[in-house]
Amino acid sequence: MLKTIDSLGDLNGKRVLVRCDFNVPLKEGKITDDGRIRAALPTLQKLLDSGAKVITMAHLGRPKGQVMPEFSLAPVVQRLAELIGVKVTLAQDTTGADAKAKAEALATGEILMLENVRFDPRETSKDDAERAAFAAEMAALADCYVSDGFGVVHRKQTSVYDVAKLLPAAAGFLVLKEIESLRKATDNPERPYTVVLGGSKVSDKLGVIANLLTKADSLLIGGGMTYTFLAAQGYAVGKSLLEADQIDTVKSYLDQAKQNGVELVLPVDVVVTPEFKPDGPTTVVAADAIPEDQMGLDIGPKSRELFAAKIAESKTVAWNGPMGVFEFPAFAGGTKAVAKAMQDGTAFSIVGGGDSAAAVRQLGFDESKFSHISTGGGASLELLEGKVLPGIEVLEA
Ligand code: 3PG
Repeated sequence: MLKTIDSLGDLNGKRVLVRCDFNVPLKEGKITDDGRIRAALPTLQKLLDSGAKVITMAHLGRPKGQVMPEFSLAPVVQRLAELIGVKVTLAQDTTGADAKAKAEALATGEILMLENVRFDPRETSKDDAERAAFAAEMAALADCYVSDGFGVVHRKQTSVYDVAKLLPAAAGFLVLKEIESLRKATDNPERPYTVVLGGSKVSDKLGVIANLLTKADSLLIGGGMTYTFLAAQGYAVGKSLLEADQIDTVKSYLDQAKQNGVELVLPVDVVVTPEFKPDGPTTVVAADAIPEDQMGLDIGPKSRELFAAKIAESKTVAWNGPMGVFEFPAFAGGTKAVAKAMQDGTAFSIVGGGDSAAAVRQLGFDESKFSHISTGGGASLELLEGKVLPGIEVLEA
């Protein structure tokens, strides 16, 4: 059982430190997808309504312990203020003199955002003592701690893990909702349980595939990793993305799937083009007939039908990773087909975070038609993998 905000008691006048995941995509300093900021609003609003003085902390990008202005949370401050309608101030540092002074002066009903926690090398340090020292500085700013940055709960980092040990701590609404939804798939899924996996690399998904081969009824493979699976079956893949060092592992997955009675479904056709660019000539070819001078950048129409039919007959569907290079309209068809089948079906439908959640939004799908769209990429994958996540474990009652 995760501790909830109610377990923190009366928050009126208290300073509450909230870990959010404000790691939003930026283009020329502008936020291109504010989904993660919106997802933080219910918890922040609840805390403001309870009379708390709210101090948020978050990371942006991977500045590796250096202060790098391009990773400042300033654009997030502005967007959060617009969305929540209260004054939001940015501290110039994370736990330094400015943060301390601003936390001290913070009024009820206002939000203070600490600057990027990853500007301090202790945030991501592997040394427990270094993280503990940074955590003590964070804890000194507040009376209690709420963890609501679901996208980072798989990281054993100061603002996610260590600080939770020093203050009365609870899970925010986003973390609770994410865990509850994802556990519907991982713990006792209503069957048939189908998982759609895409994205570029098999090597990023090894753990999750191995675990799903014991849990899922069907595993549909698309995206860049398709080609390593096709190569493992002995097919030529032309210039397509191939992780030759993973072929043996993939062969063992194909065997395990057979042994466990898990249906592993690979594309039967793909959309190929000679070069990686948006507007080259495209051809649909059978999966076992990819020409030597072409690369596959999307699953083909027959595969889309096949995948859609599997999704339609499922009771639980989890999806992580695009089926093709959806950023180029010519190669977005496979990703669209999966999103549409999930939206039209009756299954409990979960979209894993990162690229697939961005794809759903960018391709114009109605988010409310999915049962759950996760804000966490790596975090949701690790949950599907069956791992215990440090930022969750630390919030258990
Ligand atoms: C994410 O974008 O998935 C989270 O914010 C975690 O970021 P990280 O992979 O840099 O830890």
